[in-house]
Amino acid sequence: EATPDIRKGLVGVYADESAVSKVMPETNSLTYRGYAVQDLCEESNFEEVAYLLWHGELPNAAQLAAFQAEERANRALSPALLRVLREFPADAHPMDAIRTAVSFMGMEDAETADISDAAQRRKALRLLAKIPAAVAAANRLSKGLEPIAPDASLPFCENFFHMVFGKVPQKEVIKSFDVSMILYAEHTFNASTYTTRLVTSSMSDIHSAITAGIGSLKGPLHGGANEAVMHMLSEIPSPEAAEAWLRERFDHKALVMGFGHRVYKSGDSRVPTMKKYAEIMAEVVGDTRWMNTSAVLARVMLEEKKIHPNLDFPAGPAYFLMGFDIPLFTPIFVCSRITGWAAHVFEQGADNRLIRPLSFYVGPEQRAVPPMSTRG
Ligand code: CMC
Repeated sequence: EATPDIRKGLVGVYADESAVSKVMPETNSLTYRGYAVQDLCEESNFEEVAYLLWHGELPNAAQLAAFQAEERANRALSPALLRVLREFPADAHPMDAIRTAVSFMGMEDAETADISDAAQRRKALRLLAKIPAAVAAANRLSKGLEPIAPDASLPFCENFFHMVFGKVPQKEVIKSFDVSMILYAEHTFNASTYTTRLVTSSMSDIHSAITAGIGSLKGPLHGGANEAVMHMLSEIPSPEAAEAWLRERFDHKALVMGFGHRVYKSGDSRVPTMKKYAEIMAEVVGDTRWMNTSAVLARVMLEEKKIHPNLDFPAGPAYFLMGFDIPLFTPIFVCSRITGWAAHVFEQGADNRLIRPLSFYVGPEQRAVPPMSTRG
């Protein structure tokens, strides 16, 4: 039997059509529904982008107000979920906490079994509203602090800071966070997004799809990289020590987190915008160590390996400078990517065919089952 054409990691394989976003590696650009992400970062906010991804068009003022009102009205966690969160081990990783919380939300949602497009959209909005509350509550509980209830008078990003820290920071910090949320929102058929489509393709529900997506995002080759970047930067004693530290890493052929990308080979379209806002954060906080160290790593990686940084590279230090605990970085990615995941769940559901590829068998030839007494 001839070996078929197998693309390990599905490299270069078009698995379906999509109208949600477009990556153009040749020009280092990314559009959501036709709009360049960097323009969305400067001209709109995360709530508008969530609406855009789900509806295909930017909202007008009335549509945005209705969307925001719906999101604000659905933020509160049930007493049962709060009780469950209190039972989690204090050292549980927040990604495991949010994965479990979303799964629990599925059991609580009265429309779980209804996979009509209208019901999936209502459930997605509830997830967008509740996931940040669950992330913030799990983070506080793990530190022995009481959760802070969402504040329906605050916009999405402000409310997240309120729930994590009990206060809302200055507007430059909110803007940098909002930009990171826009940049993390959507990125075609990455591993977690494809996971949500795969789960949806069996006509399963959106909570199952998002729970699986969170599991996929957790890995350090994917969303987990933003945490790994900050752990790596923390290991480097100073910007002056960064080059020697990196060269030693080369000697061990170790991965350098926050670098490389499956699709972009000459730069990640999202990096310049995120880097700009990470630098603004460094200025606001008055701590340039992380960005100076980052600059050395980026220069040497490019000179020696011709590998560019990806979005997680500037996002990691930006979140650190905003004051978030490092294990919260990937859950923040979840708070954003729920928008892209849900857009793909809707798209897959609208024109579904079960996703079921083939495997090329390379195990033993067919053989007889030996009786127990003869097995070695
Ligand atoms: N550090 C050191 N070498 C690297 C790195 C890196 N970060 N990335 C790629 N390479 C090397 C790789 O070893 C390979 O070398 P060789 O040809 O000698 O075997 C070459 O570059 C080509 O890379 P690849 O393994 O074919 O790339 P891939 O498309 O299979 O993997 C990746 C892409 C993102 C998994 C990989 O670049 C990586 O592991 N990066 C580090 C983790 C990371 O930052 N992930 C975030 C991804 S982007 C945003 C997100 O999802 O959150």
